[in-house]
Amino acid sequence: MDKLIVIGPSSQLLGMRTVQKTGLDFVQTEHKTFPDGECYIRIKIDDESKIAGKEMIVIHTLGASNHADQNHRLLELIMIISSLKRMKAKKVRVFTPYLAYARQDKAFRPGESLIAHVICKMIENAGADEFYTVDVHADHVLESFSIPAFNLNPMKLLAEYVKTKNLKDPVVVSPDKGAVKRSKSFAQFFGKDVPVEVFSKERDVITGDIKMTGELNVEKMDVIIADDIISTGGTMSSAIKIAKKSGARNVYAIGTHLLLIQDAITRILDAGANEIIGTDTLKNPFAQVSMADLLSEAILK
Ligand code: R5P
Repeated sequence: MDKLIVIGPSSQLLGMRTVQKTGLDFVQTEHKTFPDGECYIRIKIDDESKIAGKEMIVIHTLGASNHADQNHRLLELIMIISSLKRMKAKKVRVFTPYLAYARQDKAFRPGESLIAHVICKMIENAGADEFYTVDVHADHVLESFSIPAFNLNPMKLLAEYVKTKNLKDPVVVSPDKGAVKRSKSFAQFFGKDVPVEVFSKERDVITGDIKMTGELNVEKMDVIIADDIISTGGTMSSAIKIAKKSGARNVYAIGTHLLLIQDAITRILDAGANEIIGTDTLKNPFAQVSMADLLSEAILK
């Protein structure tokens, strides 16, 4: 076969699920951290000629785990791409389901870096020929690539799963104005008249604290709150509290990328969510919805 998948260390489950769906062969990596903290990674092959002339598909997300933070994962990605290029792969197609740093896409305060855009350039300069991610925080980040770059939309798959909960009078709530487009795209999968309600959220650019205001028309309705990232759970738990106060019957907390750091799980459930629902772009206990279909479709195109 002329296509071969590389399963990066950060995407083992999604990588294997994608291998099973596509029926393609795969290779793993061998990786470690040197005593001084530098990372090491190699494609686990015994003969480099197995790569030459092949279309290589790299699946490696940029989420932190117990063993490696997102910076480490980024370097691993750069190393994987550059080694495939050195071994004369015909094409390197990079699938990074969660693009870390995408929230640092603008200079919110004087002196800041536009690191999200710099990372795109790093991936391209390492030798990527195509780039794919899922539900990137801000679409315009991908415009930094001059290679083809795609943002895969998980909303249909998430909606199919949420629909199994047999919602009554569903309403989609957008946790901030930036998420309205995503929420509208999500709502259409529940029916053409499903309303979208929006909060006003302000984040203090220095402390990170959020203030959420707004009144919701959700009395006795089943509320679905969808965000791209759930990190500390601050945004989600504030939104849930307002929805519950406004008389929501059930509340489902949906996130594409569940970082769930600190006490996010407790915060969200304590605020009144019936359930946390997420995807396998990152390793987490609520990855009920796999992105393997999305990746497989793009890979086989
Ligand atoms: C920000 O604009 C993002 O879309 C998410 O709302 C944010 O990253 C969530 O972070 P946290 O869970 O810490 O509130």
